[in-house]
Amino acid sequence: MNILHNISLKKYNTFGIDVNAKRFVEINSIAELKKLVSNEKNIFLIGGGSNMLLTSAIEKLVVHLNLKGIVVNDTEKDVVFVTAEAGENWHDFVVWCISQNYGGLENLSLIPGNVGTSPIQNIGAYGVEIKDTFHQLEALEIATGKTKIFKHSDCNFGYRNSVFKNKVKGQYIITSVTFKLTKSNHKTNISYGAIKEVLKNIEKPTLKDISNAVISIRQSKLPDPKKIGNSGSFFKNPIIDIELFKKLQEKHPTIPNYKVSSKEIKVPAGWLIEQSGFKGKRYGETGVHEKQALVLVNYGNASGKEVYQLAKKIQQTVLDKFAVPLEIEVNII
Ligand code: EPU
Repeated sequence: MNILHNISLKKYNTFGIDVNAKRFVEINSIAELKKLVSNEKNIFLIGGGSNMLLTSAIEKLVVHLNLKGIVVNDTEKDVVFVTAEAGENWHDFVVWCISQNYGGLENLSLIPGNVGTSPIQNIGAYGVEIKDTFHQLEALEIATGKTKIFKHSDCNFGYRNSVFKNKVKGQYIITSVTFKLTKSNHKTNISYGAIKEVLKNIEKPTLKDISNAVISIRQSKLPDPKKIGNSGSFFKNPIIDIELFKKLQEKHPTIPNYKVSSKEIKVPAGWLIEQSGFKGKRYGETGVHEKQALVLVNYGNASGKEVYQLAKKIQQTVLDKFAVPLEIEVNII
């Protein structure tokens, strides 16, 4: 285990923000991780770095989890249990599952980040969330160094939410995640409007067809973090009271909406931000993506503080215009 000093974290976060880590260590095995947490409790974990905005230098020991490996448990008839180590790149894992004809993750193609962080915010796209195929995960408790299994019901999954963002925040290091996937009789979900549209000429789309459709939709709307720094959706889509929604709909009849319950409606933050005039606007080194207003970007040399200032300005403008508070989805560090 080699502790490095004064390392730039620019290449370790998809926003491409350049902050300094006083101390930095790469972890390649569970044994190394166990050894580390036995004498170092003040740690800051970085996996794929895809859901964070770094606003200042990191004083804690930065731990880059590089645990790799995939194990398959193929003892049942139609389903297969696939365990991936935390440091596996999410999209590469999805592509591998599709190559094996394992179904369930195809709608989640091209989401940035690593397997280990995927359950924290219950990643989701195009009508599917990780909770739909999640079986269990293994994590290391930092305080005790003990391994703990979190079953589905222990995780309290919600929209972009789980127990790891709330009750046990910062207490565990997720080391591997097991998914329950289909190996035959796939139950695909192509109901999301944009996917349906792309696949309309294919009679019986395969997992690969669905994945390709998702990839083309994402590439047409979302910036590639390798080219323009970003963290995907910066805000959550707000869920608002039906009374407020009715008032908004009177004024703005085209407002897109999804029913959550008899009392609550989800409205797209991207629409609210676009209507507030921010879409495609650049402010120095940061700005709002031109094709998807929910995504804030770093044109190269933005500081985390600069991006955060823009986020606050957007929140205030949307609140003044629509009386809807926008909650930030990305972790502000
Ligand atoms: N819209 C606008 N203007 C915009 C963006 C969107 O008017 O600039 C409208 C669209 O016209 C559409 C609606 O908002 O009517 C929804 O847009 P879209 O299908 O692009 O999805 P989203 O609700 O903006 C969510 C997720 C994305 C995920 C897509 C597809 C959240 C916070 N975001 O975005 O997730 O890819 O659905 O399922 O739930 C991410 O989390 O990083 C992410 C990209």
